Amino acid sequence: MDHLKTAEVISKRRKESGLTQNQLAQSLGVSFQAVSKWENGTAYPDIAILPKLAAVLNTTTDALLGYGGVVADYDGRYGKEGYYWGLTPNRICYDIMKLLPPIKPYRVLDMGCGEGKDAVFFAKCGYAVTAFDLSEQGIEKAKRLAEHNKVEVRLFRADLFDYRPDTEYDIIFSSGVLHFVPEQQRKDLCDSLKEHTADNGINAMNVFVEKPFITRAPDSTRDESKRHPWRSGELFGYYHDWLFHVCREEVFDCNSGGKPHKHCMDTLIAQKVEKC
Ligand SMILES: C[S@@+](CC[C@H](N)C(=O)[O-])C[C@H]1O[C@@H](n2cnc3c(N)ncnc32)[C@H](O)[C@@H]1O
Repeated sequence: MDHLKTAEVISKRRKESGLTQNQLAQSLGVSFQAVSKWENGTAYPDIAILPKLAAVLNTTTDALLGYGGVVADYDGRYGKEGYYWGLTPNRICYDIMKLLPPIKPYRVLDMGCGEGKDAVFFAKCGYAVTAFDLSEQGIEKAKRLAEHNKVEVRLFRADLFDYRPDTEYDIIFSSGVLHFVPEQQRKDLCDSLKEHTADNGINAMNVFVEKPFITRAPDSTRDESKRHPWRSGELFGYYHDWLFHVCREEVFDCNSGGKPHKHCMDTLIAQKVEKC
């Protein structure tokens, strides 16, 4: 169990539930100071109170213990030797370079950077890179990869659901991540990314797409409720007012997790151009 993750989860869920520390304390029959200590990570809730705490906060005891499904899955993969996704940069990275070659340190944001292979590649090419992921293990590995390659990457742990860019980027990139975002939240997310893209900047992303003939990947996240494959073409719709450079849908073979399977993916590279 992880005190800091637990502290974060309690504080986040309490605020989302619109409860003050005092109200949460009262509903559990504990002191307000106890809740405050849980939230700043100096004490841990008694094991007997966890189920009730989870119910009041509308979450699970697993999540309170820092064993949230998706994080646990990826922490498990990234905690092992080697690089789970390899070290070869994603094909889109090369497409991006053709469109906005690093003639100056264009600012790149990599959302859900995993173990950092693409973020480090961009940094090696001369871009100014910021990257985040939900997995602490992924971020630690990405930091080591950057250090090994003697490049600087601004890396930190963050949750796509809370994170909104605090500055403009020239390139916002995300590969293999956005299927964790439920459909209702996608338009807001894309609008926020578009707003935080500099003029003539690009958004480059790919999303897994649902097809009746594609079965669940063997190493897919264990918690099915967290996976939300996109509808064919849905991503392109959110960018209807941008200039498309790459807009493709493809079915491809994959061997992640050691078992051959297929995916269907939509890829978009769109540019924010001034309206005439
Ligand atoms: C299929 S991997 C792709 C990793 C990387 N983009 C790559 O192509 O190598 C999906 C990544 O999304 C991250 N992820 C899942 N949910 C996330 C969230 N809510 N916020 C940030 N990252 C998340 C996972 O930790 C994982 O590293």
